[in-house]
Amino acid sequence: MAYSIAVLPGDGIGPEIAAEAVKLIEALSEFGFEARIETGLIGGAAVDATGDPLPPETIALCDAADAILLAAVGGPKYDRLPRAQRPETGLLRLRAQYGFFANLRPALLYPELAEASSLKAEKVAGLDLLIVRELTGGIYFGQPRGIFTGEDGERYAVNTQRYSESEIRRIVRVAFEAARRRGRRVCSVDKANVLEVSELWREVVEAVHADYPDVELSHMLVDNAAMQLVREPKQFDVVVTGNLFGDILSDIAAMLTGSIGMLPSASLRSDAKGLYEPVHGSAPDIAGQGVANPLATLLSVAMMLRHSFDREDLAARIERAVGRVLADGLRCRDIARPGETVVGTVEMGEAVRRALHEVD
Ligand code: IPM
Ligand code: MG
Repeated sequence: MAYSIAVLPGDGIGPEIAAEAVKLIEALSEFGFEARIETGLIGGAAVDATGDPLPPETIALCDAADAILLAAVGGPKYDRLPRAQRPETGLLRLRAQYGFFANLRPALLYPELAEASSLKAEKVAGLDLLIVRELTGGIYFGQPRGIFTGEDGERYAVNTQRYSESEIRRIVRVAFEAARRRGRRVCSVDKANVLEVSELWREVVEAVHADYPDVELSHMLVDNAAMQLVREPKQFDVVVTGNLFGDILSDIAAMLTGSIGMLPSASLRSDAKGLYEPVHGSAPDIAGQGVANPLATLLSVAMMLRHSFDREDLAARIERAVGRVLADGLRCRDIARPGETVVGTVEMGEAVRRALHEVD
């Protein structure tokens, strides 16, 4: 049976890196993985074509797909549009539409890239942490929200940070389950010294922990967590947190690994359907130049094979292939140090496909 994958290239460097992902998926047919790929519009590209950042045709395409691969959305051209037409709104609606509440953002340092990290190589050597970010709740979606005018004529703005017990429980379970397959440690990040939402969060985390006595649990305030990530990042195994804190901490974690151009993500729910995207954005400054790093997107394909298609063998093969091309000295511009061989998007994609046959 051929699986069906919806590919949404989006904006900026999106189409260039998505093209490499498509070629990678096609190359997997040699390893017994057959997929039908259909491409759809999202973000600014969709706004340009239809006026809607997540048009109904794209929703229909995603409805029919077993998994969705999204490259990137956004760009300066769209920054002044009303919120409903912003590219980011298309992405947030997509996450909400399918209830992809569990966002896994692994930050893994490839040994070859230790020198590209913004921290000293010895601080990050062997770094392997996983951020589990709640993705469909919290202040991103809480009501009321908006910009209003008060009785005094002054404008004010409101966003609402809200979590229900069940929303907290299900994301925390994902984190404990993930920890069991890794280092058996979970650090829950909140702001319990100030926010009631975090007070409830902590309570629920403690309650769920009772089912996972084999996993070590700690709590950390988000400001401290930001500091600890750049001070001693290897102390973390699994970090679980809400939507906004997870957004911020995952960018920090990304930089530790050398470049945000290296980080994949998976957004999951309780069945196998998932949304896979690189953590980085659309990088409009380098769009169309053929220099964007496709590795985060190719590694997102690996996550897709693992979580949606139960093909751990192929996921691992792609990850080893990426390791191989890095060991061979190939670098895109974002991860290259002076003197290293810089290749473009297409060459990097090609090299990974070639390496698929060289690893086992
Ligand atoms: C991310 C991005 C998105 C987010 C934006 C593009 C809406 O920063 O996936 O981390 O804030 O979730
Ligand atoms: Mg972000």
